Amino acid sequence: MTRMCKRFSQAGFDNYRCDTEAQRNIVAALKHGVKNGFSRNILLIGGVGTGKTHLAYAVLNALAEVHTASNNPSYRWYGENKVIYRTIKDIIDNIRASWREPEISDMKGFCSCPLLIIDEIGVQYGTDGERNELYTVFNRRYEDMLPIMAISNNSLTELQNILGQRIYDRLIDGALIFELNGRSHRKP
Ligand SMILES: Nc1ncnc2c1ncn2[C@@H]1O[C@H](COP(=O)(O)OP(=O)(O)OP(=O)(O)O)[C@@H](O)[C@H]1O
Ligand SMILES: [Mg+2]
Repeated sequence: MTRMCKRFSQAGFDNYRCDTEAQRNIVAALKHGVKNGFSRNILLIGGVGTGKTHLAYAVLNALAEVHTASNNPSYRWYGENKVIYRTIKDIIDNIRASWREPEISDMKGFCSCPLLIIDEIGVQYGTDGERNELYTVFNRRYEDMLPIMAISNNSLTELQNILGQRIYDRLIDGALIFELNGRSHRKP
């Protein structure tokens, strides 16, 4: 269900350089989640190339490492009902496509997987109908206390406008919020 792309197949906590307090804090929180389970939403915001997607894949890769040891408490995060990583556009595209082809809908997974990682929350996507279904995902997970890791280049104020107040409010309730600043790690 989650696409493991080539660029981030080796992304881990070990090859993520921590130069700042914020980086150390986010790595500690994510490692804690991998080991003990994620209980709160995590918001990761910051500029381009600051390693947000790297860290999302570090979580996926770390969970994959433990998935065979079923007595490890992290197993349920990477067991038969896997953690899902998608960009917000992928989620909206799936919602849209499933109106024509209900059998391809991943809605059940979006609503009930143990951890949903949503990357690239940026410009406002979707029609009202699609955004209603997106709200359903956030609300269902909020009701069932299932965590979301949300990743964006935008500030919290901008996220309120992008997601709308009803989604934003549920997302930040009890959330751990991390901001990564600094230069892009991408270079020519
Ligand atoms: N602290 C870091 N240590 C080592 N490599 C890093 C670090 N931060 C970023 N990188 C590397 O830099 C590249 C860009 O990182 P990444 O794609 O995760 O950035 P991003 O924050 O998701 O950017 P964008 O907002 O543009 O999507 C990747 O190859 C990543 O592995
Ligand atoms: Mg990214």
